[in-house]
Amino acid sequence: MSIEPIVTSSPVPQATVPAAQAAAAESAVKTNKLAPLRVGVIGLGIGSVHVAAFSGLPGVEVIALAGKEPDRRRELGEQYRVTNLFEHWEDLVALDDVDVVSIATPNLLHHPIALAALAAGKHVFCEKPLALNTAQAREMVDSAIAHDRVLEVAFNHRQRADVQFARSYIETEGIGRIYHSRASWKRRSGIPGLHSWFTNPAMAGGGALIDLGPHVLDSLLFLLGEPRVVAVSAVTHGELGRAGYGAMDRAEQMASDTGAFEVEDLASALFRLDDGSSVAFEISWAGHTVDDEDISIELLGEDGGIRLFVPHYKSEDTLRIYRDRSGTPLTITPDVRVHGGDHARVIAAFVDAVRSGNWTEHRGQYALHRTAVLDACYRSAAVGREITLAVEGRETHQEDA
Ligand SMILES: NC(=O)c1ccc[n+]([C@@H]2O[C@H](COP(=O)([O-])OP(=O)(O)OC[C@H]3O[C@@H](n4cnc5c(N)ncnc54)[C@H](O)[C@@H]3O)[C@@H](O)[C@H]2O)c1
Repeated sequence: MSIEPIVTSSPVPQATVPAAQAAAAESAVKTNKLAPLRVGVIGLGIGSVHVAAFSGLPGVEVIALAGKEPDRRRELGEQYRVTNLFEHWEDLVALDDVDVVSIATPNLLHHPIALAALAAGKHVFCEKPLALNTAQAREMVDSAIAHDRVLEVAFNHRQRADVQFARSYIETEGIGRIYHSRASWKRRSGIPGLHSWFTNPAMAGGGALIDLGPHVLDSLLFLLGEPRVVAVSAVTHGELGRAGYGAMDRAEQMASDTGAFEVEDLASALFRLDDGSSVAFEISWAGHTVDDEDISIELLGEDGGIRLFVPHYKSEDTLRIYRDRSGTPLTITPDVRVHGGDHARVIAAFVDAVRSGNWTEHRGQYALHRTAVLDACYRSAAVGREITLAVEGRETHQEDA
């Protein structure tokens, strides 16, 4: 018999995720006595969220912006009193005064900008995905190590209160050995621009998988306590995009030519992890299915289960914990509300890492593993076989292993 929903206050630990302001205040403790950290933001789309987040932190100043849209550049410059405004990223990276380069450009530019910035002695905060492929990502991590600088990626989803709560529940209460997980992000009609850089393989490195996959994979590995993925078997499909279906913007869909779509709109994979567990992973931008969008992570443990289900960025009632009490199935509904501000929190954590001076755990190595896993999925789909990854992230083709 299943009992649900139960709103419970104990023994489930309360969510302790601080608001963006609290994170900022905490960061300030470590920063107040030091010289201001001077930041340059490249890219004015999601980059404008970076500008707001950095500007909101004590001891941090955004002193330069780069982006190709002159009106947006001027607008943001006026709003945040930034006077160094550039069309090209190279001019921003060349500024001696910049300590941190924040990258929010199309994926193709993450690698060259990060390498140039690290070589110039700057710390780098980079949007997901870290890079187009494993080789680029490894070069970026090697460069962060060689130049002794911080390289971090904007894995903001793990900062959601429900994800943080689930992690803390696993640490304090436990659900036994987790033997299988299911993780997905699915949309009915969510291709972000049928003719934008997002669907240009040279600029994006892929489609739905490289766009939405990094967030789901990061949250999953964070919840599982950072096991390594050692093998993947994946398939990809682009049927709906090729047929001109599935654009986020319906008007664009009606106007679009069919046939020009070269990336996947759906990827499905099975992962084997180094702790012996498995993961069913599915990401899709489009599908003839329910008219909604949802992110879902289910963890199946020997003593209990956890399900995070977030339809359309819902901010409450997203978490269930399943246990068995003396033979009776028990469903727990923790009272967790998501307050947004996850970019602000991930940026505050980045600033704290820079301020700490202890950078060995902040060289982009976690992001490298995520890139290696997604890259292996693409190769598995291309060759139609399982691809193995060595534990340290240096993957080999199955036939070479
Ligand atoms: N973490 C998240 O939740 C999240 C959300 C959205 C996007 N993203 C990531 O952020 C990145 C940017 O996505 P977006 O949606 O903001 O894209 P976008 O197309 O809206 O913005 C890209 C920006 O890059 C600028 N740019 C392009 N070429 C440039 C150059 N040579 N020099 C300087 N600026 C240049 C453009 O002018 C534009 O301002 C992508 O990697 C994407 O995956 C992450």
